[in-house]
Amino acid sequence: MAYENILVETKGAGGGIGIITLDRPEALNALNAALITDLGQALDSYEADENIGCIILTGSNKAFAAGADISEMAPKSFMDAYRENFITDGWERVSQCRKPIIAAVAGFALGGGCEMAMMCDMIIAADNAKFGQPEINLGVIPGAGGTQRLTRFVGKSKAMEMILTGRMMSAEEAERAGLASRVVPVDDLLEEAIGVAEKICKLSQPMTMIAKECVNRAYETTLAEGVRFERRMFHSTFSTEDKAEGMAAFLEKRTAKFKHR
Ligand code: HXC
Repeated sequence: MAYENILVETKGAGGGIGIITLDRPEALNALNAALITDLGQALDSYEADENIGCIILTGSNKAFAAGADISEMAPKSFMDAYRENFITDGWERVSQCRKPIIAAVAGFALGGGCEMAMMCDMIIAADNAKFGQPEINLGVIPGAGGTQRLTRFVGKSKAMEMILTGRMMSAEEAERAGLASRVVPVDDLLEEAIGVAEKICKLSQPMTMIAKECVNRAYETTLAEGVRFERRMFHSTFSTEDKAEGMAAFLEKRTAKFKHR
């Protein structure tokens, strides 16, 4: 399917990696309603495709995304935003994705762009990446989870400083603070993200999805409930063919051939 605001391609052995590239270069990939619709449709189609084991969300070398589209937001009143439940439909699609999704971030990841990267499962940052929640400069506050997710990633003090002042964070600082899983040279960004995605694709797809669901549970519940959830999911993995294959392969000193069931 052809989209107007994103590019999609599949990569990897058997086409197991779905790559979505945000593509509004004239506006530094500012996230408007049309782009969010395209993104939602692309995610739906990758989730429905059994061959896709991992998704990469990326932008250009200059910008992952410079935020929600300010020209689209400027005319909206409170009543418009409230009635249409602005920044809900479509936006939450990324955080609801059940398959692993990697944000490969170069350049600016600001406002809604930073929030979208944080909705992914991990952030691989190019050395020129800049993360920030500059909404305060526009007379508003983060609205796609920035006050909640950034605080969970980097802690209260750094989140407060960034959100109250609009200061941007470099890639190195983002890695030190736990926002990015690693920093790579900008020219190697996509290749590095594809390398991680390939490793994920070689593993059992239901296991990577279940593991993701368990990690995400850590953000939503108490430790005791989270551990109980994990324990039950762990038990359930014993019913799969991939568990039998993975353990047999180890004992027989060979590489496992997972069937994703
Ligand atoms: C609409 C944007 C945009 C945005 C950049 N552009 N960011 N358009 N919405 N968020 C457009 C510019 O208007 C300009 O268009 C073109 O992209 C290039 O941007 P420049 O400013 O000329 O580039 P540069 O000088 O390199 O500065 C880059 C920048 C700056 C520092 C990233 O563009 C900037 O500060 N952008 C806004 C960042 C921001 O405030 N983000 C938060 C948005 S609020 P023209 O036509 O002039 O060439 C938000 C709310 C979240 O995200 C809540 C829910 C999601």
